[in-house]
Amino acid sequence: MTDNSFPAGFLWGASTAAYQIEGAVREDGRGPSIWDTFSHTPGKIANGDTGDVACDHYHRWRDDIGLLRELGIGAYRFSTAWPRIQPTGRGAPNEKGLEFYDRLVDALLDANIQPWLCLYHWDLPQALEDKGGWRNRDTAYRYRDYAAIVARRLADRVSYWATFNEPNIFTYRGLGQGDHAPGLQSREAVWRAIHTVNLAHGLGVLALREQRADLKLGNIYNLAPREPATDREQDRVACELMGAIMNDAFPDPQFLGKYPEPIADDIKPYVRDGDLAIIKQKLDYFAFNHYSRSRIRWDNDHLFHVGYAKIDAPVTAMGWPITPDGLRESLVDAKARWSGDLPVYILENGAAFDDAVDAEGRVRDPQRIDFLRGYLGALLDAVAAGVPVKGYFVWSLLDNFEWALGYDKRFGIVYVDYTTQKRIPKDSYFFYRELARGAPLDR
Ligand code: FCB
Repeated sequence: MTDNSFPAGFLWGASTAAYQIEGAVREDGRGPSIWDTFSHTPGKIANGDTGDVACDHYHRWRDDIGLLRELGIGAYRFSTAWPRIQPTGRGAPNEKGLEFYDRLVDALLDANIQPWLCLYHWDLPQALEDKGGWRNRDTAYRYRDYAAIVARRLADRVSYWATFNEPNIFTYRGLGQGDHAPGLQSREAVWRAIHTVNLAHGLGVLALREQRADLKLGNIYNLAPREPATDREQDRVACELMGAIMNDAFPDPQFLGKYPEPIADDIKPYVRDGDLAIIKQKLDYFAFNHYSRSRIRWDNDHLFHVGYAKIDAPVTAMGWPITPDGLRESLVDAKARWSGDLPVYILENGAAFDDAVDAEGRVRDPQRIDFLRGYLGALLDAVAAGVPVKGYFVWSLLDNFEWALGYDKRFGIVYVDYTTQKRIPKDSYFFYRELARGAPLDR
């Protein structure tokens, strides 16, 4: 018999990211980030959308915390915007920027919601990009200083910290594929950035522990099973490269102290003596985001010779195949390769669908509910297989700025009407609320 109850103490959460919801990009001393520059570059974002206003969360945070409280979840994961806190990425902190997160954290605690703070969700200060961004080793040391500033202010009240969100995605897509900020297309830039970000992670962990030794620290990876489209040699090679960049490039050095074989020689020129010891820090939890599995084929025209082959499964509005079992597989694989007995958290999972408000003012999203049911079922299967999964955070609380795809793609369990900024909880919000109240999964 399958047990459809979640383990005792299971943590239900929701995740967001600063640039995707805050808006107020020129307020209270915030400096520009690479996403401001990128989104204001014609042709980069669907419909010419930008994060200038987004969900106006910078002004509506109280209401948004109200939505979280009503939802009854135990934790909220947000990110701090580096350019709010250090407008040029270095030097004295901007007091107003810190105050915003100070208030947010206090209000979350008042609502009995654990704040989970992610230090970097892709919004690098533009001034650092102008000096080479993540291609420049010095950025790791700037990041360390920034981490120390945020910890000095918030570590008395925030226990759970993550150094980075999806380092694989922002390095590969931002510097390799070029469809994310800062929009470079260079293999060399990706190798350099992978190492700088790993180094920043290690330095960041050291800086955070110095502020408070018992903080709970981790990094938010993005993991998914990848398989070659055919057993042709070229497809296998492409798939191994993708697996190394997308799955292993961060957890391998951080947990095993080495880079994965398919990319180790590419990264070697940038690794200095002692770096890997800094990078491999003891972490307190293992977290990753997961969306969908993929099938990889060789593509001559792509910078990394990587293409995607069709998977026989229904897709979301992103075109991402709905493949719940991939979550079980990633959890089981991660335990074997990296996480061992560490508590594991899924810090993002969810789906975009073409939601609309109906005549009664209600947003019916049965597809999202089915999606969540499927993936949560896979999570329970992983628990049954012995993976200590301790929590699940849905992506996302609100519809928001979905990077290159702008506001077209709605991932929220709460609908946002961008003309009025009205929030409307979708049916999935109420479904999620039942789970947070302890309901078993009906599957
Ligand atoms: C992840 C990102 C998050 C969101 C979801 C859909 O890669 O971390 O910001 O865009 O995808």
